[in-house]
Amino acid sequence: MLLSRYFLPVLKESPRDATIVSHQYMLRAGMIKQSSAGIYSWLPLGFKVLKRIEQIVHEEQERAGHVAMLMPTIQSADLWRESGRYDDYGDEMLRITDRNKNDLLYGPTNEELVTDIFRSHVASYKSLPLTLYHIQWKFRDERRPRFGVMRGREFYMKDGYNFDLTKEDALHAYNRHLVSYLRTYERMGLQAIPMRADGGPIGGDYTHEFLVLAETGESEVFYDSAVTDLTFGDREIDYDDVDACEGVLQEFTTKYARTDETHDEALFADVPADRQRTARGIEVGQIFYFGTKYSEAMGATVQGPDGKPTPVHMGSHGIGVSRLLGAIIEASHDDKGIIWPEGVTPFHVGIVNLKQGDEEADAACKALYDQVAALGLETLYDDRNERAGAKFGTMDLIGLPWRITVGPRGLKNGVVELTSRKTGESEEMAPEAAIAKIAEIYRAHGLVK
Ligand SMILES: Nc1ncnc2c1ncn2[C@@H]1O[C@H](COP(=O)(O)OP(=O)(O)O)[C@@H](O)[C@H]1O
Ligand SMILES: [Mg+2]
Repeated sequence: MLLSRYFLPVLKESPRDATIVSHQYMLRAGMIKQSSAGIYSWLPLGFKVLKRIEQIVHEEQERAGHVAMLMPTIQSADLWRESGRYDDYGDEMLRITDRNKNDLLYGPTNEELVTDIFRSHVASYKSLPLTLYHIQWKFRDERRPRFGVMRGREFYMKDGYNFDLTKEDALHAYNRHLVSYLRTYERMGLQAIPMRADGGPIGGDYTHEFLVLAETGESEVFYDSAVTDLTFGDREIDYDDVDACEGVLQEFTTKYARTDETHDEALFADVPADRQRTARGIEVGQIFYFGTKYSEAMGATVQGPDGKPTPVHMGSHGIGVSRLLGAIIEASHDDKGIIWPEGVTPFHVGIVNLKQGDEEADAACKALYDQVAALGLETLYDDRNERAGAKFGTMDLIGLPWRITVGPRGLKNGVVELTSRKTGESEEMAPEAAIAKIAEIYRAHGLVK
């Protein structure tokens, strides 16, 4: 992408109503524009990151054996009357009436809709286990939408639903989701710690939230500092291996880590004093097992091996896809702007031409651009007729992890400059060496073959 042809409406000043850094940088970097309270347009740069995050979520769900689909945003109120949640959900639910006076709603979540699909098409235990998921916009009429995409009213969420014959099978599905979520967040460059949480309106008492530690987080959390040493890393796991998945759950959830809703002072006191931590966190996902709550209320039964109808055991599992942009920025930025982890960066490389119009510099930039494209990676090439300082400022603000700077002086010596956004360190090298280094970096992230 040539910056001269792109739409990147960067702001010099940070809008006054943006109080946290992720919200400020998303506005300043031209990623989003508020359309009304808690509702945003995703401008090209923000949209690109949203799609990267979505893609990682899809890949990890499919790896775990979960099946993608797409359910509508608008749902019928009647389904929610069946579960009893039409009245329970309260003012957070946006209720709509169509021209025929049918009661509709903009879905805040999808347990009812997916249970209806299941009961219409699945009759036998032989079709189980089954996990269906989608990534779709949700609407919750939050009392206090704030912090930009972190607490929106319209937001993008991955929600998955498992259907199993027994509680035991459903708990395996729960563990599978936990493992897939650990992988998902790590690929985004995030540490998200599973913490024991509260069921809330979804119900059930078997639930974990995934929290990214950040001062601006809305949840108060209590944990044993040893949990921050745990990483899933690049180990291979067989998602059908019940013991292996259970082992990961044990490894990641045995040490004390809880949100304020389930915090227990007496248990916390057992954590060695030098490892007790109180902090704040951003909830980026949650998994639930809630048994037969919806299947019983809505008649989602299958014929069991004994021939008798049995209600299926279910759980639901959510990732806050749009919130993740905010969470990643909270976890990865400096005073100049965003620092995107390689896994989610909107463009993999930024090219800055120090002397636009100089024949040699223009040609060198064009060649680098083509070589990055040949690797299957994307470049944002700042080809504008601007001062170098302004170009660097934009690149730093939008946070591309690697920048190649090209100027006539360097080219005379056969070199360009490769700069890491994270460390700020620059290295002069031949253009081919810069491309080789870029390839190596992104190969480690599975983005270059
Ligand atoms: N108002 C919101 N704006 C952005 N993301 C949200 C919002 N509400 C929930 N999410 C994201 O969706 C995920 C799954 O939602 P869920 O656990 O049902 O929400 P909650 O914990 O708010 O009841 C949450 O972990 C969070 O990351
Ligand atoms: Mg939650």
